[in-house]
Amino acid sequence: MLPSDKLNFKTIEWTGDHLKVLDQTRLPEEEVYLDCYGVEEVASAIKDLKVRGAPAIGIAAAFGVVVGMFNQNLQNLKEYEKRLDHVILTLANTRPTAVNLFWALKRMRMVVEKNKGEKLSRLNQLLLQEAILIHEEDKRMCKRIGEFGANLLKDGDTILTHCNAGALATGGIGTALGILYTAFWQGKKIAVFADETRPVLQGARLTVWELQQQGIDVTLISDNTAASVMKDKKIDCVIVGADRIAGNGDVANKIGTYNLAVLAHFHKIPFYVAAPSSSFDFTLSHGKEIKIEQRSPEEVTHWFGKRVAPEGTKVYSPAFDVTPAELVTAYITEDGVKDVVNSKIKA
Ligand code: MRU
Repeated sequence: MLPSDKLNFKTIEWTGDHLKVLDQTRLPEEEVYLDCYGVEEVASAIKDLKVRGAPAIGIAAAFGVVVGMFNQNLQNLKEYEKRLDHVILTLANTRPTAVNLFWALKRMRMVVEKNKGEKLSRLNQLLLQEAILIHEEDKRMCKRIGEFGANLLKDGDTILTHCNAGALATGGIGTALGILYTAFWQGKKIAVFADETRPVLQGARLTVWELQQQGIDVTLISDNTAASVMKDKKIDCVIVGADRIAGNGDVANKIGTYNLAVLAHFHKIPFYVAAPSSSFDFTLSHGKEIKIEQRSPEEVTHWFGKRVAPEGTKVYSPAFDVTPAELVTAYITEDGVKDVVNSKIKA
């Protein structure tokens, strides 16, 4: 049994003929599942943050390719490849920052590249197998990250986290939160401070919801409380996830992560980044090359549909920031805990 089986919700599920995702925009009020039968539905679900978090985006996109290629009545390989190009492009155009999306799409394309001699129905089966494999691999990577990371935590530790790098963000138990679950299941008494994570509150809505379900002691703070919490409370470490880690170790993650890294450095608190190998992008040598998604101004000018800033307010709203490698104490991956990024992580 994988630890993700202990959770009482499923972020992503292949039902046998379509993809089912937990609609995260409706949490924590309602647990509503979204049935996706076509690529457009999957692409919208990713774009609208119904399914979000780097590894979960990659897995959903892999199944998006499957539903995009099924039931198409394609006559030959040329038609099949043309459709595949369209499906992959539709999914690739959703969110630019999490490399897991492009990593998963590349794997799906390779399946067709390597099996061009097969019947089209067989190609569809192979695509489905690959998507299921990507999902299963992610569960196992989360488990290992959880185990390696939990070794860093002691009984009585207090951890600060940002955004949601939990089961809702992956196919398994999560990366940063996977570590917290694992430590908790090992019997360690831990306490967590969760940043609310403006503008769309993944910390308040999702991280708190997840941790509460397991009975983990979690305290919600507004983002601007982090410095005080580090000064006044005993924060033993910060653990966050990643959307893309460049070859030099710079980390793109939810906007506000960089703030935390600077604060942790000042307060001499270890700052850990938990991420599977699918989040590393060795094609980029520096974090400044990472494309950062810009979000709609309404997410900042409005508060759940109600305007809170004057009409015509200029807004700057990057979804992610880049934390320089020098502020990262260590990377917790499925291969272990490393203080530098190098090609070994990729292996
Ligand atoms: O915009 P989101 O909610 O997709 O951003 C998610 C994050 O920044 C997570 O920390 C990251 O994807 C890691 S998830 C294991």
